[in-house]
Amino acid sequence: LGEGPLKGRHVIVTSGPTHEPIDPVRYIANRSSGTQGTAIAGALRDLGAKVTFVTGPASVPPPTGVEVVRVETARQMLSAVEAALPADIAVFAAAVADWRVDNAAGSKMKKDGTGRAPALEFAENPDILATVSKMATGRPALVIGFAAETDDVIANATAKRDRKGCDWIVANDVSPATGIMGGEENAVTLITAAGGEEWPRLPKDEVARRLAARIASVLGADV
Ligand code: C5P
Repeated sequence: LGEGPLKGRHVIVTSGPTHEPIDPVRYIANRSSGTQGTAIAGALRDLGAKVTFVTGPASVPPPTGVEVVRVETARQMLSAVEAALPADIAVFAAAVADWRVDNAAGSKMKKDGTGRAPALEFAENPDILATVSKMATGRPALVIGFAAETDDVIANATAKRDRKGCDWIVANDVSPATGIMGGEENAVTLITAAGGEEWPRLPKDEVARRLAARIASVLGADV
């Protein structure tokens, strides 16, 4: 461990879904297994980076040889990322809930016998990728986001890159027919300042290795 082109580099990787409580026993969440984020953290570790892995409640175990910070909500994820800074590189692979329940109950909600259902109110969660990308001081040199799209993948992901202020976007087509969501393979387009680069459909581990190698090629140790 700790040897390789990313030796001495600190990377923060977010992964998994977030859970936003409705009451102490219920939550809303995103459908994310954490597979791709976990593979990326492992691939960066394999190139010698020191990895802080900030993960929501994922369905796959975290990689070994990384610092694991477990969180539940988007706001906890942002705090954990801020606490882990400074970093040279940040890869935001988590499927963060865009909204949290603003009127979450402190005790378990009960049916009241009238047949009326409770009304949930939502508040917007902080955007972790945009927040870190737009930091005035201490911004990581390379900030990478993901974009799960079903239509106009390159156009939408390019617009997202501009809007959020990150350096690269890993765009993937998650149309149901692709079987990518929850699957073992991914078909991504890497969006950089130079444009879009379509990668072949590959196992998620291989996508992670290619991305880590690409990161090392721009931010690897100066030797
Ligand atoms: O806008 P959208 O959710 O599609 O953007 C996806 C990218 O933004 C991912 O990299 C995701 O991890 C990040 N994101 C975030 N905080 C949010 C929402 C998304 O970091 N609240």
